[in-house]
Amino acid sequence: MSQMTPEEVEKDRARRLKWFREARFGMFIHWGLYARLGRHEWVMNRERIPVEEYEKLADTWKPGEWPARTWAKLAKKAGMRYMVMTTKHHEGFCLFDSALTDYNAKKRGPGRDLVAEYVEAARAEGLRVGFYYSMMDWHHPDGARCKHDEQARRRFVGYIHGQVRELCTNYGKLDIMWYDVSWPLDAEGWESAKMNAMVRQLQPDIIINDRSQLPEDFGTPEQHITPASGGRAWEACMTFNESWGYTPIDTNYKSAWNVVGMLRQVAAGGGNLLLNIGPTPEGGVPVECSTALEEVGEWMSQYGPAIYEATDPMQQEWFITGAFTAKGDTAYFHCNRWPGEEMAIGGLVNKVVSARFMGGKPIEFKQVKDRLVLMGLPSQAPDPLATVIELKVEDTPRQVLGAGHVIIENDPWAKTDK
Ligand code: GLC
Repeated sequence: MSQMTPEEVEKDRARRLKWFREARFGMFIHWGLYARLGRHEWVMNRERIPVEEYEKLADTWKPGEWPARTWAKLAKKAGMRYMVMTTKHHEGFCLFDSALTDYNAKKRGPGRDLVAEYVEAARAEGLRVGFYYSMMDWHHPDGARCKHDEQARRRFVGYIHGQVRELCTNYGKLDIMWYDVSWPLDAEGWESAKMNAMVRQLQPDIIINDRSQLPEDFGTPEQHITPASGGRAWEACMTFNESWGYTPIDTNYKSAWNVVGMLRQVAAGGGNLLLNIGPTPEGGVPVECSTALEEVGEWMSQYGPAIYEATDPMQQEWFITGAFTAKGDTAYFHCNRWPGEEMAIGGLVNKVVSARFMGGKPIEFKQVKDRLVLMGLPSQAPDPLATVIELKVEDTPRQVLGAGHVIIENDPWAKTDK
């Protein structure tokens, strides 16, 4: 890498990111000992559970048979194209077999390498494979001490780099290295540049997220959908309820309607959605998640191209009946609050050439200046999750409303410039 010119670095990054930029939708899986307590993946820290007490969970954990197969099938069905699983969360317990600690799934209760099972399951469904790895570690004796003690820092960084090496060596080709929380060191303390150079040497096609305190290949807005600037790749990671790990007392789940809305939003910003599930200790998927994902999958099988491919940026404004994705001279209006037999869309600053239900019948319309009225529609929403209406327009689609009503001077409709 170091011999590359900056242009070559960017070219190589574009090559490695190609699949990711087209993937749009992935499954995040948070699974670990915390699932057994069911009170959020931060339970060890939040409840101040002593290490010796927490550790015991490892000896008696007995996950069900190959749950990753169920997750991968569900992900595929939902229209997801990749998965990212926690190989080690902040609790420090490794789901993979590690020569560097026996606090791992192979040597403790499960007696199996749960990461190996995951990788095999994802590949069997043709999904790309990502590894989440928490740099922060509440179990390792040097995990906090490393901040003030150089000997401890060296030992701990040796441990972390060593585990990252194991992950990049023992599971074949990987697609994503997804680091998390880098407390308590900085990039220099972690020797992140060296660590990531090693990752690339072992996995030349891999993409790396921005959480080792270096920007690397893509940004990871968490719990909000905010496009990155300057064309940088990004992926919004979101929970299904409000926790990442299995938390049955946290019942505020997103619906399929919410997920379809989030997919529209990431597509419009040219990014991805990494949507989390927190499986039970046995590996079961909470029914709220599996039901919603199946519905999303059905929706995606009908309207997929308006999400996977329609990712051109389009100026648009908030609008209660829906919002757009766009590709070239096509604007896809995702209507998720169906108004009835007639629907008006304001502010479209383009002449509409044709309107139709995506993959279906043409729609009668009239357009007076920047007021488009679609007529003869069914009274009920054809698709309650979002009905996509495909509008072919002249020029690049753009919606301009502003706060003033009917601005005669400076009428955007009258303008020919874009
Ligand atoms: C936060 C949390 C963590 C979760 C992660 C996912 O950093 O600490 O529990 O794994 O977000 O992005």
